[in-house]
Amino acid sequence: MVKRKSCIFISGSGTNLKALIKSSKNYNFPIDISFVITNNKNANGLQFAKLHKIPFKTFNLNNYREKEKALNQLRKKKIKLICLAGYMKILPKDFIQKFNGKIINIHPSLLPKFKGLNTFEKVLIKKEKKTGCTVHFVTDKLDDGKIILKKFFYIDKEDNIQSLKKKTQKLEYNAFSEAIIKVMK
Ligand code: GAR
Repeated sequence: MVKRKSCIFISGSGTNLKALIKSSKNYNFPIDISFVITNNKNANGLQFAKLHKIPFKTFNLNNYREKEKALNQLRKKKIKLICLAGYMKILPKDFIQKFNGKIINIHPSLLPKFKGLNTFEKVLIKKEKKTGCTVHFVTDKLDDGKIILKKFFYIDKEDNIQSLKKKTQKLEYNAFSEAIIKVMK
């Protein structure tokens, strides 16, 4: 199978990146991870890029010159899909337009519920019965593009922010790979 080249954007621990790298090693998985971009040069998740010898770079995409450099690299590397995996910055509008329909994001709630930050707190305050994660296309409206898939679990009485995060992230690792298979078909 000819795999298409992808770039993963991260800001923090990069456990979704780790899961995607694992999926990408599968012969039938539709993408290769050719590049990792971060806004945070100290992101822990960069260890996974280093371990698997995936090139990575830190860019501040709000800076015009750095944005142009990032776009050049993405073009040069023939990147066909960008996956935001815990990327905690809002992408510039013109950047999104240049990759229209080719950027997907994972969000730790059942969208359209609980867009933005502090999702687990919001879920608990609202006494939700269930929660989960959503993979969606990125548009210039925050956490708003067409939904590719969602996965959910029922919340226990004992759940707190930490346990919700743990359960949600466990679902995310499969959800992201499944969503990629769905969009690259
Ligand atoms: C993930 O849970 C992801 O859903 C969330 O950040 C976490 C990153 O974890 N993303 C957002 O909240 C974006 N709005 P990771 O760095 O270990 O993959």
